[in-house]
Amino acid sequence: MEWTREQRYRRLHEVKPTELEQLEKKVANSPWRQTFHIQPQTGLLNDPNGFSFYNGEYHLFYQWFPLGAVHGLKHWYHVSSPDLVNWRQEGTAIEPDRDFDSHGVYSGSGLEHDGLLYLMYTGNVRDKDWNRFSHQCMAFMDKEGKIKKFDSPVIPDIPEGYTDHFRDPKLWKQNDKFYAIIGAQRVNETGVILLYSSSDLKEWKLHGEIQTNLSEFGFMWECPDYFELDGQGILLFSPQGLEPQGDKYNNIYQSGYLVGDLLDVDSLEFEHGPFHELDHGFDFYAPQTMVDDKGRRLLIGWMGLPEIEYPTDKEGWAHCLTIPRVLHLQEGQILQQPPEEFINLRKNNVSIKDELQTDEIKSYSGIQGEQYELICDWMNVDAREFGLELRTGSEEEEKTVISYHTATKKLTLDRTLSGQPVGHAYGTTRSCTLEDTNKLRLRIFVDTSSVEIFVNEGQYVFTARIFPKETSTGVRFYTKGGRAAFEAEKWDLQSDSQTV
Ligand code: FRU
Repeated sequence: MEWTREQRYRRLHEVKPTELEQLEKKVANSPWRQTFHIQPQTGLLNDPNGFSFYNGEYHLFYQWFPLGAVHGLKHWYHVSSPDLVNWRQEGTAIEPDRDFDSHGVYSGSGLEHDGLLYLMYTGNVRDKDWNRFSHQCMAFMDKEGKIKKFDSPVIPDIPEGYTDHFRDPKLWKQNDKFYAIIGAQRVNETGVILLYSSSDLKEWKLHGEIQTNLSEFGFMWECPDYFELDGQGILLFSPQGLEPQGDKYNNIYQSGYLVGDLLDVDSLEFEHGPFHELDHGFDFYAPQTMVDDKGRRLLIGWMGLPEIEYPTDKEGWAHCLTIPRVLHLQEGQILQQPPEEFINLRKNNVSIKDELQTDEIKSYSGIQGEQYELICDWMNVDAREFGLELRTGSEEEEKTVISYHTATKKLTLDRTLSGQPVGHAYGTTRSCTLEDTNKLRLRIFVDTSSVEIFVNEGQYVFTARIFPKETSTGVRFYTKGGRAAFEAEKWDLQSDSQTV
């Protein structure tokens, strides 16, 4: 279905209840609904917003267009959780109902202050000629979950020198002062991040551009984040417009980070190393982080990308969030690991240990499924290539392949035959190079229509949506040109979440 602008910008109260009911039915019939990932009940989800720990629980909001799988009038939808694995639906949190956010409550962040959760977001406005205006707005949530907007934007204008691509404020507090960074585009169409500060969250002062050494690195930087991790400063953002370079930057848009000295908020200097991508798979964008009551730095991302069609679009919904990841720094790179709470979802353990001979391909009883966690340690390898095939079908050659090639030291995720195609114009394989070839641990989370692979304690992560048949539930282990041994453990995963 082609969506007209009028259809995409309808307010929810203008929509007949029967239209929503029909949409809900259509979505409920989708064979690709996830079971332990946060996904929209109807419509399209994109960026995670306002991720925070407040009043003893995790709170998370997401960009939401309720009426179908297109980028229309955006709301913030709210979910909450005591433990990062079981989520409650809290309903629409921020609606585009004011003249400063009439065409979308765009992305932003949350910060607790004086017993309230402050939520800073971008109010997107269009005039009748469809010119865009961007206002940075503030709202706050109290302990009862009630949300109230400030009466006017806290940063009403775009400073001189920047285009209307100016959005996604990320808040933090440092030495009794509040800071916000905003993703922006210079008038010469390069991406950049601007820093503001405030003593009361109401009056904001522009400091200027964060001084990185990436003066020409894409045309727009979306969803910036800054935080300290293990004594270093981390600047995270989603640059648009990078050209592919070998295994790097193969998705339509990227998300990654710079590790550096702590940001100097007065001089704006940020001494940093190279840009690293956060995820080496296909579907990952606009991540956001927060610190919880245990002091963990947690990241969650959108398991999707702008401007790519997905097979669920015709079923009235699109996208989900990734599982959260706990961040640590090791030798200048971020390690990302699933939170320990995910152990609580495990049911029915199966363990195996085997040594595959040359050119063998094997499956094992109990190792299969649609929703599971699989940990696989490979050892004693002399094979030219070895790996795993997931979501395999019995007759037709449906499979999602993770392979390691000894000569090139490349780990590759191949979704050429994963089922219904997604983003094939951007290629069907993704790879990274593993320097330490003596150990390979793959910790894999498979849900109905996704796979997330944590490599060697989170040194790399590959995230992908896949759309296989319901009957494609097999797992096969294989070698080519030599032998390899492995130990594997598998659990079914089951969540009591309301969000699935
Ligand atoms: C990133 C993004 C943000 C924007 C939001 C709108 O995916 O484009 O920059 O605030 O989505 O939904």
